[in-house]
Parts: sequence; structure tokens; C-alpha cells
Amino acid sequence: MHRRTFFRTTCLACAALSMPALLSSCAGIQPIAGTLEGEELVLPPDAFSTPDGKPKRYVVASHPQLKQPIAVFANSTGGYHAVLMRCTHKGVELRITGDRLECSAHGSTFDNTGAVLEGPASDPLRSFPVHERDGVIRISLKA
Ligand code: FES
Repeated sequence: MHRRTFFRTTCLACAALSMPALLSSCAGIQPIAGTLEGEELVLPPDAFSTPDGKPKRYVVASHPQLKQPIAVFANSTGGYHAVLMRCTHKGVELRITGDRLECSAHGSTFDNTGAVLEGPASDPLRSFPVHERDGVIRISLKA
């Protein structure tokens, strides 16, 4: 086998093998469209349930009037943390990895309450009060 053929074959095989993992990880963070009611972003009642009824650890909430989405994490006491997915270093949108938010630009990481775990960012993420009323999660967007 020629070297070029070998590299082409192995690269295609690697891409084919990694595609299902990439697709499944992307599917887990599909944003949920919230609705604005006054100064609250309201999530659908089933926002924290998977199609088979299992609880989700977090959701990503979006709305056309928000420049960047909000990550909402369920905590161990039945409450929620909501943080803007905008890096406080230079404003890049963050991605969720487990219970952390990571910035692909320069490597800052934040915990699910928005606290800085690793710089260069030094300020915490913007966080929002969250409350649940009648099974519906409401994120207060007040400054
Ligand atoms: S923009 Fe996020 S670490 Fe620089």
C-alpha cells in the first residue's frame, strides 16, 4: 500500500469511527427555546426530562433576544444554577463539559455556578436567579 493511500484510508476510518461520538455529544446539548415573560426566561415544563423520562443534569436555554445561551444546571439539593455561556475573558461562547464550562479560545474553565476554576479569565460568569413554580423553571434576567 502506498503511503498516501494508507493515510487516506486511516484518516477516513478514524473520521467514520469518531462521528457517532461527536453526534451523540452534540445531541446532548441541543438548546431549548425559552419564552420571555416580562424579565423572566421560562423553560418548557419538560425541559429537564429526556424523551424516556430520565432527569437531565443540565440544559442550554436560548432565546432570539439573548446573544448567548444560558446553561442551567440541576444541583444536588433540587435547585438550579443558571449562568451565561459567555467567557469573561474575551466574550467567546463556552461549551459544557460535564459539570464545567470551558472556553476553547484560551482555556479558561468555570464550575457550574460560574466560579473561575482556571484562567486567564478572572471574573465569574454572569449568573441568574432561578426558581421553579408549578413545575416550570423560570430564569430571572434582571441585572
Ligand atoms: S476568551 Fe475565553 S479564555 Fe480567552
